[in-house]
Amino acid sequence: MKITVIGSGYVGLVTGTCLAEMGNHVLCLDVDPAKIELLQQGGIPIYEPGLDEMVRRNAAAGRLSFTTDVAESVAFGEIQFIAVGTPPDEDGSADLQYVLAAARNIARHMDGYRVVVDKSTVPVGTADKVKAAMQEVLAERGAALPFSVVSNPEFLKEGAAIEDFMKPDRIIVGAEDEQAIATMRRLYAPFQRNHERILCMDVRSAELTKYAANAMLATRISFMNELANLAETLGADIEWVRKGIGADPRIGYHFLYPGAGYGGSCFPKDVKALAATGREHGHAMRVLNAVEAANDAQKLRLVDKVVARFGEDLSGRRFALWGLAFKPNTDDMREAPSRVIVDELTRRGAAVVAFDPVATDEARRVMGSNPRLAFAADMDSALLGADALLIVTEWKAFRAPDFERIRTSLKQPLIFDGRNLYDPAWLRGEGFEYLAIGR
Ligand code: UDX
Repeated sequence: MKITVIGSGYVGLVTGTCLAEMGNHVLCLDVDPAKIELLQQGGIPIYEPGLDEMVRRNAAAGRLSFTTDVAESVAFGEIQFIAVGTPPDEDGSADLQYVLAAARNIARHMDGYRVVVDKSTVPVGTADKVKAAMQEVLAERGAALPFSVVSNPEFLKEGAAIEDFMKPDRIIVGAEDEQAIATMRRLYAPFQRNHERILCMDVRSAELTKYAANAMLATRISFMNELANLAETLGADIEWVRKGIGADPRIGYHFLYPGAGYGGSCFPKDVKALAATGREHGHAMRVLNAVEAANDAQKLRLVDKVVARFGEDLSGRRFALWGLAFKPNTDDMREAPSRVIVDELTRRGAAVVAFDPVATDEARRVMGSNPRLAFAADMDSALLGADALLIVTEWKAFRAPDFERIRTSLKQPLIFDGRNLYDPAWLRGEGFEYLAIGR
């Protein structure tokens, strides 16, 4: 099939590349000429395991190409994916200007039937707005051309996006007409594997499904974080509690890890946007509001522990910080807990020397102006002369470090662990002071 993907960011690029991998012909559009040039030369603008090789392979096979030319992109695909950004407005609701601009562009240049697919995470009712925007432009053109608008939200985890796209646990298709449903079924047939994974539903339910999934997952995390904080006070160990409740199949083991709070491009934004949708329609989203408030507090949990240990004034102190990205296997710094932690430690006068296996360049870009923050080239050099080590992201390399080196590099053997990576009894036996989450 011939497919256009509008927006060559994280979602668009993964979608386009994986569809090309299945043999389709895909043209990816972006307004940023530098990004398109980079892609045309075989580079990729983001870090995602396996993606660069897949982009190059499909580009070389002639199935994947890149352009900034809107008219060319509209002419290319019968299916037009909209995968542009939906950043939060001041009130937390999703800003639809890029989505609607893409829709208008399609209407301006199309010459026959198009299936327009909302891939971006968009509030319920967006498909109707996309339809109206297109109809308006077509009316101006005096062109009565047919089109369908489909909602097909993505469920890609950064760091595992290719696997998630190639082996989806479900494919949500919200569509009203048979022609669009048939097209989407044909498109996703190669991804069905051993059983039916497409769930066809009405457009609004599909739009809400995306927010519901992320809000549910964020709720689990905030609730676990709250339980962890309580466990600390009660002298219980949240890691035992986690295993104890995860064994119940109704709860399950996944996504039950307490930590330094959730971050990333999706959870914080989608929780806010769904709460805003609730407000707009007169529904107080009580649980969701609490999920967000709990997460804001959780991001500061490690700093609270530092302050409890060293006092309010941290001037003259130095901390080693391992892990800047909002989670492992990505260089994404959006809403990363490390940002709040570094801000707060340095605001209190401390210096921070941070190390991340992948996200250092990105961190330098977004936090580099902080004069009290320095970046170390490796795990070990971050430690030298620091008052304590803080662990913020659970990269694999941090799971079995050289504890002897940590002991001898730090001023005292003291670890604040925001991801519960180590066995407290063992570490304490080794003479470490170890402050983790909920234990
Ligand atoms: C998420 C959804 O998983 C994905 O389906 C959706 O399409 C986009 O948003 P992503 O943002 O890549 O994906 O990250 P994810 O792996 O879900 O983690 C989100 C945040 O929750 C991270 O900050 C992570 O550290 C935190 N988290 C996750 C926990 O604190 N505890 C957990 O048990 C799981």
